[in-house]
Amino acid sequence: MSVVLEPMAGRHVDAVCAIDSRCYSRPWSAVQWRTELAADDRTHLVARANDHVVAHAGTLRVLDELHITTVAVDPDHEGKGHGTRLCIELLRLGIAAGATAATLEVRAQAHRTQRLYGRLGFAPAGIRSRYYDRPADDAVIMWLHDLDSPEIGERLDRVAAQLDPIPDGAAS
Ligand SMILES: CC(C)(COP(=O)(O)OP(=O)(O)OC[C@H]1O[C@@H](n2cnc3c(N)ncnc32)[C@H](O)[C@@H]1OP(=O)(O)O)[C@@H](O)C(=O)NCCC(=O)NCCS
Repeated sequence: MSVVLEPMAGRHVDAVCAIDSRCYSRPWSAVQWRTELAADDRTHLVARANDHVVAHAGTLRVLDELHITTVAVDPDHEGKGHGTRLCIELLRLGIAAGATAATLEVRAQAHRTQRLYGRLGFAPAGIRSRYYDRPADDAVIMWLHDLDSPEIGERLDRVAAQLDPIPDGAAS
């Protein structure tokens, strides 16, 4: 089964809310999502396997900085590269739009997620104490500088190439 990435649209909101309700303790409502989709400084992508949305991710652009605001994968489809692939595509779109750095916050206890971002070139740069609740946790602030450099472009290409042979639905 092949997976395509495409811009999130109104028809995806229900599926995205269903994923968020399984991934986040404070998921955005459908109304919040529609506001997000209307904002021109936001970019949201979904990963779609046939007619089924399996993951989504988004960014907020602030001058030449790209803030990754959300990455969520249907728990039934984790570990297949969707999160990585979405982040790479968002970073590439950010580079094309002139971004020179990217940042995000991630739960301090989410070591696997931090590893995912680390593979893309993000590095920890600070802590926001007790940023999260349900359950309580600190946030690690991560930055990826020189986003527009050839080195980062090559890194993203390399990581993407490693993911390509494994389609959705393959045994893991
Ligand atoms: C964190 C999250 C986005 C990761 O998404 P994902 O699609 O499972 O991540 P990926 O598959 O791209 O990468 C994760 C791991 O799977 C491995 N992987 C990726 N594709 C693979 C494949 N085809 N076969 C085997 N392993 C694979 C990666 O190497 C990585 O391994 P590691 O955990 O040993 O480092 C997802 O777990 C999620 O939605 N979590 C809840 C919400 C959340 O916390 N979001 C982050 C907010 S900051």
